[in-house]
Amino acid sequence: MKILIKNGRLVDPSQNLDDNLDVLVDDGVINAIDHDIQSSDADLIDARGMFVTPGLIDMHVHLRDPGQEYKEDITSGTRAAAAGGFTSVACMPNTEPVNDNLATTDYILQKARICGVVNVFPVAAISKGLKGESLTEMGELKEGGCVAFSDDGHWVSNGDLMRRALEYAGLFDVPLISHAENFSISGKGVMNEGFVATELGLRGIPWVAEDAAVYRDVALAEFSGSRLHICHISTRGTVEIIRTAKARGVRVSCDVTPHHLTLTEEAVRGYNTNAKMNPPLRTAEDLEALYQGLRDGTIDAIATDHAPHHRDDKNVEFDRALNGIVGLETALPLVLMLVDKGAFSLNTALAALTTAPARILSLPRGSLKKGGVADITIFDPEKQWQVDSERFLSKSRNTPFEGWTLKGRVSRTLVAGKTVFQDLES
Ligand code: DOR
Ligand code: ZN
Repeated sequence: MKILIKNGRLVDPSQNLDDNLDVLVDDGVINAIDHDIQSSDADLIDARGMFVTPGLIDMHVHLRDPGQEYKEDITSGTRAAAAGGFTSVACMPNTEPVNDNLATTDYILQKARICGVVNVFPVAAISKGLKGESLTEMGELKEGGCVAFSDDGHWVSNGDLMRRALEYAGLFDVPLISHAENFSISGKGVMNEGFVATELGLRGIPWVAEDAAVYRDVALAEFSGSRLHICHISTRGTVEIIRTAKARGVRVSCDVTPHHLTLTEEAVRGYNTNAKMNPPLRTAEDLEALYQGLRDGTIDAIATDHAPHHRDDKNVEFDRALNGIVGLETALPLVLMLVDKGAFSLNTALAALTTAPARILSLPRGSLKKGGVADITIFDPEKQWQVDSERFLSKSRNTPFEGWTLKGRVSRTLVAGKTVFQDLES
């Protein structure tokens, strides 16, 4: 089956393209990209006024499946991804059971094949049960389809174990993804340490809890020569540590979330549990450093850390609320808002959502090159809409952006040439 996407503005950072170009898809594969393509037997998609980009890739989501399907499952999570313009997601292993074994990896891949509407790439745990004590069978898990290893939600505090993990994963050239937080420093903190925390009477998490963990992880990556990825970075210190490490040739990459780019600790006022996440929202100075990090290439990727939670996990005292927010269905317009504000360029934003995660996870995705899989996102950059979490395709509603008016709406998402989401209002 052929599909012809006409009249759109095609932006593909992998080919340095930003031009009015048509795309011809044949049998799920990119067949041609050119000016004014004609095809009599193709289904036509009119993308006038729209951007056409490689399908977005979210390298950090929590699908909660297996085990917490009341929060999200592979069906709802991948539908939410498609609605947000994502054609691929990498899912974190803190499920129940933990994805530290082949049976769980197989379950995720099989269920994704049957019920998922976008590509699902499992990330396996670094340590068994995320306990930080002994390593998982990394070779077997990689063979089984896992694309990276992470104890996300936990830092591998045992330096020797992290060293061995880096050395082991390095044999397969698979990255370790580190949730960089020194828990002996963050302790019982529930938000960023500073004036706001003091005013609210909440215990703080100082920036050094992250920076100290990043220093150690970078040192171990330098020592082992293996690939390290620091996820959801939040402090200006982390940006600087990674910048200098990259300059020295350390094989380190990192990502940042849309919410750490748009919100500060101020969002916690009113004890808003939908502004509680780990790492916590920081300060305006941190945001500026994160923008600079994206502009100069220190920060590679943007990932949502989509962390669905049930109402009952959030409708409690701030201290007791669980960490995390949903992100798949608001990520793109939030990033476009920052592009509009001049924080970084559109090309930088889209590279961080396509080429960079594809490169880090070694996925043959994130590009509209001829011959590649036709994972494509089409969005209207001007369309305004109001966030109404009741309309999310995710099962969870824990967003701090409720009621916000955002600009930029996904019109259509295609995975291997098949439409998996369509905005019926466009
Ligand atoms: O806020 C967070 N939520 N941070 C994490 O690292 C884990 C995540 C979750 O699983 O809910
Ligand atoms: Zn995390």
